[in-house]
Amino acid sequence: LGHNILYYPVCDSTQNIAAEKAREGAPHGTVVITEEQTAGRGRLERVWDSSANNGIWMSVIIRPEISPHMAPQFTLVSAVAITKAMEDLTGSAPEIKWPNDLLMNGKKVTGILTELQADMDRVQSIIIGIGVNVNQELESFEQSIQSIATSLKIETGNDINRAALVAKILYYLEKYTNMYVENGFEPIKLLWESYSCTIGKRIRAILLRETLEGTAIGISNDGVLQLRLDDGEIRGIYSADIHLT
Ligand code: BTN
Repeated sequence: LGHNILYYPVCDSTQNIAAEKAREGAPHGTVVITEEQTAGRGRLERVWDSSANNGIWMSVIIRPEISPHMAPQFTLVSAVAITKAMEDLTGSAPEIKWPNDLLMNGKKVTGILTELQADMDRVQSIIIGIGVNVNQELESFEQSIQSIATSLKIETGNDINRAALVAKILYYLEKYTNMYVENGFEPIKLLWESYSCTIGKRIRAILLRETLEGTAIGISNDGVLQLRLDDGEIRGIYSADIHLT
């Protein structure tokens, strides 16, 4: 990954540019990276705060030979890859909150947004959008997110070399992408569970139409969170906001 790098001093969203480049045929491993996004986006149509020169805002185009039902797990593959990269570089690993938030001391340090371009039976491309808060001070976050966001600098006390972290993220993303495509989800799942702060905990899951409470007991081989409700019923959670209770 990263043999083809498209760098923009500023852009609306690397995710939008990568989607366009992927449709135009950009090769596997293309990276779109910027210093500042004017319209950074998160999951569930949320805005992603992406101010200048202190974060990693990038989107990676991958073209694995897999069927579309294997694509959602790439969110979890990416979470493990970024966690490993951070652990290598800073000595402290974040915790993964299902499905894709990386937290340090309970605050969000990284978000991942994966988007799929596919036909009926074939993945054309997966675009992995990665936003890492690296060298921000607390005051540089919007007031409204100061209680829930953090950066590597705030947590470790050190300025972090962004280029070195990008290189490590791409290294591990390639490694775990290959591992998943060749060996299936099981090895990734074990890594994911070992870094997770969700498994074994009581959680509240806010779904579109209902709110469920219970104990998160694991993830299935398709990346679906398994929640044991108080009456013993086990429910698979595909998409929800999760709160530890
Ligand atoms: C989330 O936690 O909701 C996901 C946030 C993803 C942010 C990254 S920054 C690079 C890429 N471009 C975007 O507009 N979003 C992703």
